[in-house]
Amino acid sequence: MIPEGFITSLLDRADIVDVAGRYVQLKKSGRNYMCCCPFHKEKTPSFSISPSKQIYKCFGCGKSGNAIGFLMAIENLEFPEAVRKLAGFYGMEVPEDRSPAKRAARERAKSLSDFMQAAADFYTLQLKTTKKAIDYLKAREISGETAARFALGYSPDGWHALKAVFPDERYDEPKLLEVGLVNEKNGRRYDAFRDRIMFPIRNPKGAVIGFGARTMKGDEQPKYLNSPETPIYHKGSELYGLYEGRSDIGEKGRAIVCEGYMDVIQLSQAGFREAVAALGTSITPEHVRKLFKLADVVYFSFDGDSAGRKAAKRALEAALPVLTDTQRANFVLLPPEHDPDSLIKAEGAQAFERELEKSLPLTDFLKSLLLEGKSLVFAEERAKLVAEAKPFILALQHAPVLRLSLMKEIAGLARLQPEDVAAQYGLAQGNSPSTASGALSGGYYGGRGAYQSGWRSYRGAGGGYAGLRNVQNGWRSDRRFGRGYDGYYDRGGYMPRPEPRVPVKDVRDRMLQCFLAYPALLSEFSHQIEDEFISSEHPAAQRIVEVWRAAAQEEEETGDVLNPASLLSVLEHSEHAQYYLKLLADELVIETPEEGARLELKRAFLDLELERTNSRLLLEGQATLPDEAFLKQLALRRAELDARIEAAKLEEQNYRREVETRERNSGGAAGAASESDAPKALSSNPKVRALQMHFLGADAAKAESAALERSSEPAFASSGSAWRPEAARREESAAVFGAAPPAAWSPASALAAAAATVAQPSESAPAASPEPARPAAAPVPASSCVSPAASPEAIAKRNAARANRDAILAALMADAQKRAAQKGVSTDGFFGAAPVVPGAPGVPPSDGSDLPSGGPDPDMAGTSGFADAGAVPEGFNDVPPIEDDEAYAFESDAGGDEFDAADFDRFRGR
Ligand code: UTP
Ligand code: MN
Repeated sequence: MIPEGFITSLLDRADIVDVAGRYVQLKKSGRNYMCCCPFHKEKTPSFSISPSKQIYKCFGCGKSGNAIGFLMAIENLEFPEAVRKLAGFYGMEVPEDRSPAKRAARERAKSLSDFMQAAADFYTLQLKTTKKAIDYLKAREISGETAARFALGYSPDGWHALKAVFPDERYDEPKLLEVGLVNEKNGRRYDAFRDRIMFPIRNPKGAVIGFGARTMKGDEQPKYLNSPETPIYHKGSELYGLYEGRSDIGEKGRAIVCEGYMDVIQLSQAGFREAVAALGTSITPEHVRKLFKLADVVYFSFDGDSAGRKAAKRALEAALPVLTDTQRANFVLLPPEHDPDSLIKAEGAQAFERELEKSLPLTDFLKSLLLEGKSLVFAEERAKLVAEAKPFILALQHAPVLRLSLMKEIAGLARLQPEDVAAQYGLAQGNSPSTASGALSGGYYGGRGAYQSGWRSYRGAGGGYAGLRNVQNGWRSDRRFGRGYDGYYDRGGYMPRPEPRVPVKDVRDRMLQCFLAYPALLSEFSHQIEDEFISSEHPAAQRIVEVWRAAAQEEEETGDVLNPASLLSVLEHSEHAQYYLKLLADELVIETPEEGARLELKRAFLDLELERTNSRLLLEGQATLPDEAFLKQLALRRAELDARIEAAKLEEQNYRREVETRERNSGGAAGAASESDAPKALSSNPKVRALQMHFLGADAAKAESAALERSSEPAFASSGSAWRPEAARREESAAVFGAAPPAAWSPASALAAAAATVAQPSESAPAASPEPARPAAAPVPASSCVSPAASPEAIAKRNAARANRDAILAALMADAQKRAAQKGVSTDGFFGAAPVVPGAPGVPPSDGSDLPSGGPDPDMAGTSGFADAGAVPEGFNDVPPIEDDEAYAFESDAGGDEFDAADFDRFRGR
């Protein structure tokens, strides 16, 4: 160890301007110095050095550090080496160098490797004069240049050939035995390596620390003879080829780990100088750590046979504890008949590059291992999956975001909630990495500003509203999302790939519900709607697009900002009009606050994009000629999305906590501070609350509030995504979804009643509204009771919720009608229809995911499945449970084959 104090005084003494000036041409710019960054390619200087802070920073690639860091980066040095080098610049002696024990150890190591070096030189010399060895290397297609680069040699066929290097008593030197150059039997010494091709193993400084020695005879065992562990040779941390490929690893930002000496050499000769191999051992975390110090991407490319796959699995285990969220470990699965050496010889360097491109990200490879031989139809096997995944997921200690997303994926496969899996694993929820939110602050959404322009600016570019419609013809090609993302849409040749299905249920309809309740959000999320839904065939997506277009058109024509009622009136001729009305009515029971809806939408869009990105990655990975750049973009995008989703979750949690606190402090009526006597059950949504007050009157509102108060549950489920107590929500939802509106209710009567009320000036809203304002307050026939054992309170509560919903709805319809009348449009189509009944004409048939699934069948009402279908908003942000058919579709569409690592041929389409 170098003492901390020395490093401080060294940094005091050193001047980073002077240090960097030895490597790059600096130009003064204000108080700082600038130049083109030596760590990435650029034309305009973004590399800056601050003499006052004594640091460098590149605004292009983000690299930064002090003088030691600069030397480490530019010279590819380990920390102590950089310190020594820097100390050398200033004539300072590193104190460690003076410690006698250390010095002795270093000197001994030096002399040990001196013996090795002398032997290596001798073997190299021997190779030059041994025809059969040269012929052997030629037969293996190794050029003289490559042989020289790796200092290959030949150990002569004799028991004491090394006596030529270590004559007389020097051959008896104990150190020769210590480094394994000779063996001893019955007190007699002989050369350890005889008649073999010699592969010297060098440490990163170039000192020879060991040998691998290959026989040239086909059947001789062992095929490779290796030096033993010695004071200078530790197999668990040394890598073959690291000395030779070190600078290439740094420059390319990637390392390729393979199994054998010959693989490294052949790869290097083919241009993959970043190749290394572990030596006669499995890959250790120490190996992986070494490589990740030099590069952010490590490929593991083992033989395609079963031994190779076992080695890959061990490498995966070694990588897990080391990996961070900014690094990637990928696994190349070669065809069973090949190792990198033979593949390159058979098919060339491009073939290997393609294999790299096709490689599986660590998580996909892990999933393939975990899913091998399991049939997820059975709960037992899904449980086994969760149990087996545990050690792997827990091992990802330094990649918290990756760990979370992997856990989510495993939960999805096991059809469990991620929270439950986290609990099983003893991972606290909400224990999200601070890095995730930190990394995000400047991210994608960049606040709302980026989207505020909404469709207006977009239309500007497209030449009026028609421009918006043109979007339908294809993915837009403007680059709002930055390079990483839009690349896909521009890739001419690959465009016609099938759009992978997104295995998310219900979420789109929930999104539509939020949009209908807060039409302003349609404009705010305009770009995401374009990206996610315009080219989607999904009926729910098409409905969102229809609403989005209608809103855009209306706002364009009137210049007004839409409210829910005016939006509905614009949509009156849609075949889905009734459905929209129903979604909105349901939302009036859920009463999501606007900010809550915004956060839900934000996360839902991210979830959808993540699904899409994952599916594309899988598809692209299966392509015969995958586009490496595209794959990279997708992988980066995925990492980004994972992080953003974590941050969005956090944001939602915080918001919920905030609302909860506000609710508690204000005695229940969120946002109703000005109305201190406002009843608790009133909506926190000002728009809805105003309507509630207007139509229900204070008394009715209080009655409802009293009913709700009787619920013993807290105002907010602590971890759920619900805005209301779960039982209340379920019941209310059941009331809304479950039963046909009471017989007493009809649109006409509601409308008449509402119109009568609306006709009054709203400022003078009566304290006690006349009876007609509550058209749905009529008693509910017992036959339509949702719960078989509904208590009188429950019934009262349900009736109150229903009355509330119907009254507000009536007001909305009245408003819509008024607007329609002003525009001279007939409202027959919209208002003349019977009350919304799922399955009735005009209501889209359930496509298996639609919100109002089930029908008004009284037998069905109250069953848990039915209530669940109604309570969509609950947890809709969570990974949806994958149904059997969906799991099947998912596996066969997007993920089935590559989960089967054993079936290499099928996976590779061979
Ligand atoms: P392989 O048997 O796959 O050999 O062992 P290879 O690398 O393809 O070698 P060639 O192409 O036949 O020359 C992979 C690695 O395992 C170690 C060596 O490091 C080898 O490169 N090994 C293998 C041994 O240490 N001893 C052995 O007897 C065999
Ligand atoms: Mn081989």
